[in-house]
Amino acid sequence: MRVGIIGVGNIGSIIAKVLLKQGYELHLVNRHVDKLRKFEGLAHTYLEVEKLPELDALFLCVKPQDAIDALKKIPSYRTKRLLISTVTGVTIGEIASYVNDDVVRIMPNIPISIGKGVIGISYCKECLNRKGDVQSLLSPFGKLVEVDESLFPAVTALSGSGPAFIFVIIESLVDAGLKLGLSYETAMKLTIETFRGSSDLLEKEGKHPGELRHVVTSPAGTTIEGIYSLEREGLRGIIMKTIFDTYKRAVELQNS
Ligand SMILES: NC(=O)c1ccc[n+]([C@@H]2O[C@H](COP(=O)([O-])OP(=O)(O)OC[C@H]3O[C@@H](n4cnc5c(N)ncnc54)[C@H](OP(=O)(O)O)[C@@H]3O)[C@@H](O)[C@H]2O)c1
Repeated sequence: MRVGIIGVGNIGSIIAKVLLKQGYELHLVNRHVDKLRKFEGLAHTYLEVEKLPELDALFLCVKPQDAIDALKKIPSYRTKRLLISTVTGVTIGEIASYVNDDVVRIMPNIPISIGKGVIGISYCKECLNRKGDVQSLLSPFGKLVEVDESLFPAVTALSGSGPAFIFVIIESLVDAGLKLGLSYETAMKLTIETFRGSSDLLEKEGKHPGELRHVVTSPAGTTIEGIYSLEREGLRGIIMKTIFDTYKRAVELQNS
């Protein structure tokens, strides 16, 4: 399968590295040569979108303000490509008005680099019969979650930006461990394993998080003391507001 990527910045180069490991023949475009250098000898590289050859799938990974210009330059061939866009705020309809391809919109997050990402995905109406092809192309990146395209700003807020929020929370837990005398390494290991174990348990048991929280909260114990403090400080409200503010910005970007 011949796969192209327009824009090998942050997200495009992660996608390229994962696909190279899978053995795909890659065709990469970036308008400045510096971003292409690390792929020399590993992939075909181009400075201009117009130079792209006939491909089976093409990822569009440019900033929103560069998307229309790049779309106008994509050469058309007889093969109907899968055009997979990571571009925030540019709709399937807008993209389809510039190309004669089957358009798929995705919102990945950064753990796709190790195959543990989650990708919000929407398909154009015409390409529902190609879902299998898309799924096998994207499976090395992590899990796919299909959503209505109107919900993309919500996906951007929750899982697209989510790793940044999780990293801040992890950092604050590790700092708390340091304040209590644990080494950085010990505090980090305890924190990461607590996150991993709790989310694995939640997924495996399929229960509401409140139910599992209740199991570990004994009367007059330590956990209820922490929960009381957490509720008094309004942690739930802070987190919900964080996601809502991020969502509002994603909507603003979509409308601008
Ligand atoms: N980063 C994330 O975690 C993430 C997650 C989900 C979705 N997204 C979305 O994915 C898109 C890309 O984000 P990013 O962070 O990867 O951006 P980025 O680092 O700025 O990468 C975009 C790349 O596209 C290149 N480019 C722009 N127009 C081009 C053109 N006409 N021809 C060839 N190359 C062109 C840029 O080249 P130069 O810089 O060399 O000019 C740059 O290397 C954005 O729409 C973003 O919202 C990002």
